[in-house]
Order: sequence, then structure tokens, then C-alpha cells
Amino acid sequence: MPPWDCKSTTLFHPTMPSQSMGEWRTYLEFVETYFRNRGIKKPMVVEIGIGFGKQKRFYEEVLGYTHIGVDYRKARSASEVGAEGVSLSIPDIVGDSHAPKTKAALVAMLKGREVNIVYLDALHNYEALKMDYAIYSPLAKDMIVIHDITFVSGVKRFWEELIAEAVESQAQDKTFITLTGYYIHRRGKKFIFGQGTGIILLEDGNG
Ligand SMILES: C[S@@+](CC[C@H](N)C(=O)[O-])C[C@H]1O[C@@H](n2cnc3c(N)ncnc32)[C@H](O)[C@@H]1O
Repeated sequence: MPPWDCKSTTLFHPTMPSQSMGEWRTYLEFVETYFRNRGIKKPMVVEIGIGFGKQKRFYEEVLGYTHIGVDYRKARSASEVGAEGVSLSIPDIVGDSHAPKTKAALVAMLKGREVNIVYLDALHNYEALKMDYAIYSPLAKDMIVIHDITFVSGVKRFWEELIAEAVESQAQDKTFITLTGYYIHRRGKKFIFGQGTGIILLEDGNG
């Protein structure tokens, strides 16, 4: 059974993504088709900010990709991961994403391999994301992905600025895809059910 078919409703279940299920599934289906169509075998994904570390198994076990996770927290305590017990996340690289030595550790771990996806999901404020983008986007060959573009104001602002800049400069080298969150209504209240995943396709590779 693919992990996203899990019926558990708790975020802490080991096979549940942290993301909205529909959005995450659509994203994975998109990247799987994209790389398969281009004959790119075993793409490399770098995720900045891993949270409970749930993305790794989707990339590695479901898609057969290689994944490197970066986070400044070593692991979650048992009390944080809840009764169902998600396997405790251990980043491949522990460090502040803004620190030069963290990027240096990543570059060393890559051993010259190209990065097909850079996935930015660390500190969710405008300045911090802008720094992560400046530091890590040059490593991306095919896609830069930014998570939580729908409802986190600083992230939304940065995403909208990137699109506005591309429109302003009439750049033809990037395609912006927004997988928008959607809403559910329950007991008269409106809940955000998706977080918003922004994908930037680098049409001719980066650089
Ligand atoms: C929203 S969570 C990531 C969720 C994860 N990408 C997922 O899809 O399940 C944000 C993570 O970023 C990490 N983080 C925040 N600021 C950071 C920084 N400056 N350097 C490294 N990690 C950071 C936090 O420790 C947290 O684990």
C-alpha cells in the first residue's frame, strides 16, 4: 500500500506525510512523471528543514530517489512524536541552514552529484527563506520547491515576489507551478486543508 493510503488521521502516524495528503500526492506524482519522462534515474533531493523526517521514506522507499535532509534539530523526543510514534527523525546533516559550514557539509556529502530538487521548508519567515533560497537554489538543476506558500505570510510574500520578478524581467527560463491548498468547512468554520507547494521548474537547468 502506498504510504498516502494510510487511514490514520493523526499527523504522528509513521506512514502519514506531514503535508496535506492531496497536495503531497499530487506533488509526488508530478515529480515522478517529470523525471521519468526525461529519463533521469534516481534523482537527488535535498530537503532543508525536515521536521519529523517524514519526507525521506516517500522519496527513497516509494520513488527510489536519494534524499539528503538538513535540520538544526538532531532528533525529536519521544514525547514530541506522540503515541503512534513516528520514527524519530535524524537529519543527514545537522546544522543551521544559514551557516556556511552547513552548506559545506552538504556539498561534501554530494561528492559532485547534481541535485535535482532543492526543497525549502525550514524557518518560515520572509528573511530566513530568502537566505535559504539564496544559499541553496544555485545547487538545484531541475526544481526548487518551497513549502507553505499558501498561508504563511512571509513565505507567501516571498513566493509572490519571485513570480513578480520573473514577470517583470520577462524571464523565460523558469516555470512556476502553484499547488494550492484548499479549504474544508466543518461545523461552520473554515479550515485550511492544504499548505501550498510552490514548484519552480528550471527550464534549462541552473546556471
Ligand atoms: C515545517 S518543519 C519541516 C517539515 C518537513 N519538511 C516535512 O515536510 O515534514 C521546519 C523544520 O525546519 C527546521 N529549521 C528551522 N529553522 C532552521 C534553520 N535555520 N536551519 C535548519 N533547520 C531549521 C526546524 O527544526 C523544523 O524541523
